Amino acid sequence: MQIDLSKETYMKPIQVGLLGIGVVGSGTFNVLKRNHSEIERRAGRAIEITMVADLDTERARAAVGPDVTVVGDARAVIANKDIDIVIELIGGYGIAKTLVLEAIAAGKHVVTANKALLAVHGTEIFAAASAKGVMVAFEAAVAGGIPIIKALREGLTANRIEWIAGIINGTTNFILSEMRSKGLDFAAVLQEAQRLGYAEADPTFDIEGVDAAHKATIMSAIAFGIPVQFGKAYVEGITQLSSQDIKYAEQLGYRIKLLGIAKRRPEGIELRVHPSLVPTKRLIANVEGAMNAVMVQGDAVGTTLYYGKGAGSEPTASAVIADLVDITRLHTADAAQRVPHLAFQPNAMSDLPILPMAQVVTSYYLRLRVADQTGVLAKVTGILAEADISIDAVLQRESDEVGGSEANQTDLIILTHDCTEARMDAALVRMQALPTVLQNIVRIRKEELA
Ligand code: HSE
Repeated sequence: MQIDLSKETYMKPIQVGLLGIGVVGSGTFNVLKRNHSEIERRAGRAIEITMVADLDTERARAAVGPDVTVVGDARAVIANKDIDIVIELIGGYGIAKTLVLEAIAAGKHVVTANKALLAVHGTEIFAAASAKGVMVAFEAAVAGGIPIIKALREGLTANRIEWIAGIINGTTNFILSEMRSKGLDFAAVLQEAQRLGYAEADPTFDIEGVDAAHKATIMSAIAFGIPVQFGKAYVEGITQLSSQDIKYAEQLGYRIKLLGIAKRRPEGIELRVHPSLVPTKRLIANVEGAMNAVMVQGDAVGTTLYYGKGAGSEPTASAVIADLVDITRLHTADAAQRVPHLAFQPNAMSDLPILPMAQVVTSYYLRLRVADQTGVLAKVTGILAEADISIDAVLQRESDEVGGSEANQTDLIILTHDCTEARMDAALVRMQALPTVLQNIVRIRKEELA
């Protein structure tokens, strides 16, 4: 069925101003243009990018052609009374934050893909938007083209969400996949990820887990109705992972993934990003390359899994445009009828604390390079037993790295059952002090995701 665009019902297009036209901005412009009639049928009126601001005006002009106003000054977009929605695709929390707050103050709705900005300054931004009666939409900020914000905020709204575990950084998933399948070193694969354009401008945000922590922080807020608290997230990246551990994990039936985890416990919320062993038999363990996937456990629905491209021009544009359509449908509605920014009504937020890492409960993979002597295993397992840490599996392997003068050394790999991080930390100190433990012990957390 076509909508009636006769004179009586015609509504002028929603006018959109775009701040920053790089990879995602040009994807947004192109998809909006290509699918304009399909999008108009859904939104109820046309959506047009009529103004673009970019410091590189030549690049912007080349991307949008002659019919769109191109300016070098983002404030000219915000000052334009005809613009209904501002899309912020600048990134970071510097000028982007100032411009988003100025756009809100000017009464514009905002669509942003800026996970860093929302994870760190979300509370201030959402409060400003609510006070002004405008929407800030951010589907593109988490897992690119996967509609995970929509799923958490609306599709799963009946549920008490128990936990979320996601592969939410494509760069690190690509690196881990390549390290596993090709046995390559971390550094060589990072260069390839940068060449393919997956990595952030500053790739340390990817490899140190910061980007994933930004996204996990946003999801934790929506899942549990708590404020965004990036500063309280535990963040550990993949730079210390060796292909040796990836191989041992595989022999034990696990893959190593960088997971962003948000888990509800009676005493608080676990919010953490770190490499994790995941059983190979889980679907999420088989998410390879730069793809993203998010598992959500709800009390009513059980386990759900969302999979797709977490970055890239048109996948991210898909999420940006979904937000444009939502705003187009809702902008004339009473603000009280809109979906709250963080899924829960602002006056009904929970004060459940983010738990310190010492209180996190998980299981572990440990690798100890030990002297190949009688009694070493007994000493190590004795320390774990005294700490009341239950062992799930033990593997002894001649490491590929061991040879020559180190031939009387061996790798001892231990999988444990759940215990608190504090208890494991204390046991690790005691094991490390054994004279027969010859190198720093490798500790990688393990999530069964059952
Ligand atoms: N650098 C990010 C990633 C891009 O690798 O997933 C999308 O946020």
